Amino acid sequence: MKYNFDEVINRKNTQSSKWDNVGARVGNSNALPMWVADTDFRCPQPVVDAVKARAEHMIYGYPYTVQEFKEATINWIKKRHGWEIKPDWIVFATGIVPVFNTMIQAFTEVGDEVIIQRPVYHPFGFSIVDNDRVISDNSLIYENDQYRIDFEDLERRAASPKAKLMILCNPHNPVGRVWTKEDLLKISEICLRYNVILISDEIHSDLIFFGNKHIPVASLDERYAMNTVSCYAPSKTFNIAGLRGSGIVVPNPKLRKGLEEQFKKNRSIQQNVFALPAYIAAYNECEDYLEQLVPYLENNVDFLEHFLKTKMPKIKLVKPEGTYLMWLDCCEMGLSGDALADFFINKCLVAVNRGDGFGPEGANFVRLNIGCPQATLAQGLCQILEQYKIWEKSQAVQ
Ligand SMILES: Cc1ncc(COP(=O)(O)O)c(C=O)c1O
Repeated sequence: MKYNFDEVINRKNTQSSKWDNVGARVGNSNALPMWVADTDFRCPQPVVDAVKARAEHMIYGYPYTVQEFKEATINWIKKRHGWEIKPDWIVFATGIVPVFNTMIQAFTEVGDEVIIQRPVYHPFGFSIVDNDRVISDNSLIYENDQYRIDFEDLERRAASPKAKLMILCNPHNPVGRVWTKEDLLKISEICLRYNVILISDEIHSDLIFFGNKHIPVASLDERYAMNTVSCYAPSKTFNIAGLRGSGIVVPNPKLRKGLEEQFKKNRSIQQNVFALPAYIAAYNECEDYLEQLVPYLENNVDFLEHFLKTKMPKIKLVKPEGTYLMWLDCCEMGLSGDALADFFINKCLVAVNRGDGFGPEGANFVRLNIGCPQATLAQGLCQILEQYKIWEKSQAVQ
């Protein structure tokens, strides 16, 4: 089937967090929503059909996790990432964020350290702090317009007797890196050496650009598989985050039991009746959607990069290897924190995510979601350009 990602669909008044809650969450209800990580694309037809068919049954009692959920997960991960997983390893979760909290509760004590690599998706840090654990921040190094891992610092942090868990973001939101085999080998070896359990959040792993390749860290070695909880979901790929379904792959029975028991204790495993029909249809029937989506997003990346380079050179795109979340380096504008947020959100009227929300390392950056028709992206960029020109003039006067 041919999908038309250029179609602009009005999402207002659909209880959309991105469009209807932008005032409360970003601070300006008139700003064009280019923040939270869902796309403005219609989701694939087989998913719509599966949800409609379920809706038409007209009874919405408690569901249970059917076997097809596991088969769909196994086939998708094998096909897309070449990793053969077993049905027993798969645990249903109502989202990936709940897994961070549950793992922290199951495998760490109050006061223990959890390693993350900021700037990173903010709920990593929230799940640590909200559970009275301590963030151990293995800050990424930003050099020559690209991010890399500080492995010496990672080893020092993992060696701390209080370090029990690491949450890896691969592909990395917001810096857009798709970690290489060498990176993943080093991370896993360090975690194993110091008994640090690895949670690998691979929610964006279908959205890989420009010939890069996603590697599930747990597929590299059985020893890594036994120390890793790998998190997958069709939610970003097929724009079904609101249906709340994800597949967590846990080959180690001890880790799996700990996760499942903590889920039970928290009474947090009951799914929505629409979650599994959508999940199964997405993974079983919608690869053609993904194959059209990736080039569309790559084209949006190129459009953004060209626009910035030619018209607003003091805002630089950190070239992404994956994800539709663009990390814009505004260091040369000399604006940060509140002033930078005010520029984008109140002056340009473009609702971005503030960079400092991903950790202090992000103070001079903003995150821009380009999971939208190119016309919407162009509109946002024109709004930014108008204000950029005013800002440029004000600089010339000084
Ligand atoms: C890296 C990452 N993990 C997890 C999530 C959300 O997970 P869920 O909606 O499944 O809880 C997001 C959403 O933006 C994300 O970017």
